[in-house]
Amino acid sequence: MPTVVRLGGMARWDVIASALGASAVLLAGVGCGPKMTTVGVSGDGIPRDAWSRGVYEYNRNCAGCHGENGEGEDDAPPLIGEGAWPQTRDGRDMAFETAADAYAYVKENMPPMEAGELADGQYWVILHYLLKEHGRKLPAELSAENAAGVTLR
Ligand code: HEC
Repeated sequence: MPTVVRLGGMARWDVIASALGASAVLLAGVGCGPKMTTVGVSGDGIPRDAWSRGVYEYNRNCAGCHGENGEGEDDAPPLIGEGAWPQTRDGRDMAFETAADAYAYVKENMPPMEAGELADGQYWVILHYLLKEHGRKLPAELSAENAAGVTLR
């Protein structure tokens, strides 16, 4: 516990509460499974853009297999750069044309043992980050409303 300064009544509890808040945020970032959801706001209460939230969610839920920079590893195909998002691929039964297809596939299949377990918002920001890095022109925030208009090539 941090030193509690003698400030009297309320102020002192504010100090304790913010110290507890800070450690809860730290704990939340360590070793959590993919089920946790984000609300687009970090521990300090500052809203984060789709790209930043996507980086965070990608690293927690996908990077272990697809690589830190989406370069692909072993059986997991690349998701950024050369060879990423091919229209068809052996082992995938749907074609990738737009970001809406990417979303449908990912929600249905990824992460492999926990498919569909992330919140929709997590899948969207992950795709926002991946497709942006892959060089696609995106709306301010990729979503169900605009994904069909974003082509993958
Ligand atoms: C446990 C390892 C693992 C994790 C974690 C994982 N993937 Fe995958 N992913 C794979 C494998 C293996 C394939 C190839 C599946 C196949 O051949 O049917 C794949 C395929 C894909 C594809 C299809 C690529 C293509 O070109 O056909 C996408 C897109 C994808 N993953 C996105 C994600 C996203 C987004 C996440 C995080 C939410 C994620 N994956 C988490 C292993 C993983």
